[in-house]
Amino acid sequence: MKNVEQDKKPSRKRTGTANQARQVTSAMTKRLYIETVGCQMNMLDSELVVASLRHEGYELVATPDLADTILYNTCSVRQHAEDKIYSALGRIKDLKRQHPEKIIGVLGCMAQKDQRRIIKRAPQVDLVVGPGQLHQIPRLLNEIASGGGRKIEVSLSRLSGSREKIEQSFESYDPLRDPRMRPSPYQAFVRIMIGCDKFCTYCIVPSVRGPEQSRAPRHIESEVRQLADEGCREVTLLGQTVNSYRHRENSRDVRLADLLYRLHAIEGIDRIKFVTNYPRDMSDELLEAVRDLPKCSPYLHVPVQSGSNRILRRMKRGYTVEEYREMYCRIHATVPGAAVTSDFIVGFCGETESDFEQTVALVRESRFKNSFIFKYSTRPGTKGAERFEDDVPDVVKRRRNNELLEIQNAISEEDNQPLVGRSFEVLVEGPSKTSLRQPETGPVLQLVGRTLCDRIVVFDGTQRQIGRIIPVRIDEANAHTLFGSMVTRHVGPEVYTLNVPD
Ligand code: 5AD
Ligand code: SF4
Repeated sequence: MKNVEQDKKPSRKRTGTANQARQVTSAMTKRLYIETVGCQMNMLDSELVVASLRHEGYELVATPDLADTILYNTCSVRQHAEDKIYSALGRIKDLKRQHPEKIIGVLGCMAQKDQRRIIKRAPQVDLVVGPGQLHQIPRLLNEIASGGGRKIEVSLSRLSGSREKIEQSFESYDPLRDPRMRPSPYQAFVRIMIGCDKFCTYCIVPSVRGPEQSRAPRHIESEVRQLADEGCREVTLLGQTVNSYRHRENSRDVRLADLLYRLHAIEGIDRIKFVTNYPRDMSDELLEAVRDLPKCSPYLHVPVQSGSNRILRRMKRGYTVEEYREMYCRIHATVPGAAVTSDFIVGFCGETESDFEQTVALVRESRFKNSFIFKYSTRPGTKGAERFEDDVPDVVKRRRNNELLEIQNAISEEDNQPLVGRSFEVLVEGPSKTSLRQPETGPVLQLVGRTLCDRIVVFDGTQRQIGRIIPVRIDEANAHTLFGSMVTRHVGPEVYTLNVPD
């Protein structure tokens, strides 16, 4: 595996260019609309694209009709995600006809997968940029705006040359961050690796996100240090198989456990999470690091996908149910109280009722904190699509999906009940969706935050608590949310609320 060497120098250069660009364009602010579908990796990519375009003088607007540049950052993991983008592109067709000067771009996984086909199907599109080429966007937009015609920038396909060449064509996109662009100034995603080499037979990710490449620890550390300086308190390390992280440094391998120790030492950072884990790489060293490092969240997302060995073999997941079970027990033995979550695919090619029943049994036995359940969606270009027939009817997939979800929800709700009456340290993220919908009524508003184990907590508080870690007592719980109230402390005759200086 080659390591991604990305230096911060080019970004500094970009800042210089941005300053010049800003001088040129200050009189004419460009307006950007961006829509993102898909995973946290995509959310981070969009954040970084927006930050780099802000440096070029763009400002964000809320709807496509207000924008000069309209970008869609796409996902191709399931057909449904692609359909959403094509409908969005359909909706802005008339807008483009009326305003041909507006630039429409498709970024991300679907861009890499479909390339020129996107323009064939949606001729209103001017720009197609794969996830390994996002750093080119400011230049490409300038070229299109000055009459350079349509642009397609994608990385090499996985079979088109030497591994080194292919790796080089997927650049880890991690320019300097812009704190204004994060969804919350207190939390940030940090990419520690790109790509995937696991090639599960159902999955398009290895083709569209390229080979597995880990970023240098010193680059990750300096990014996290910068985030901490800007007031960020929680970082979530991202990788398709984040616990496969491996970087050669001074003739030794740095693994995720080592990286956690290094990031743990950074002052100002209070919480470290990481997603998504690959079951086979859940090493003892990693679990011990999670156990021993107080800032490290004992929340572990380790997708199993199926409870049937026959299906796991067809999926080429690389483990059996017994091996997953062994790993699961190891997690709980090493990290007592760990919150483990999983992903499942139902209706994979050839999945019988008996296979599905084995998945149900695994869900009942494991009692995951929660599970994401997906109906299998055949992806052209994967081994699964090539080798197996997508033979489970959609009604059956839907039934299995609903059944599994119901079982998981009942477990999540049951397992949340013992939390009632207990207090947890909650990092307050901001106003809840409900309070965002309501007009301001006074100093008290409904807030939402998360426990160290990633449980969502809703409670009443004040604006000033946003971004703080405060104790909250749980009063009620359902499958997905805990409802609480701030812990108060009695001092003499007075009652005051912790962490709320007036
Ligand atoms: N169909 C349905 N679900 C899929 N996933 C990945 N590929 C597919 C597919 N072709 C699911 C897996 C993975 C999650 C991110 O998406 O469960 O863990
Ligand atoms: Fe896809 Fe498997 Fe890689 Fe996860 S590990 S991104 S499911 S190929």
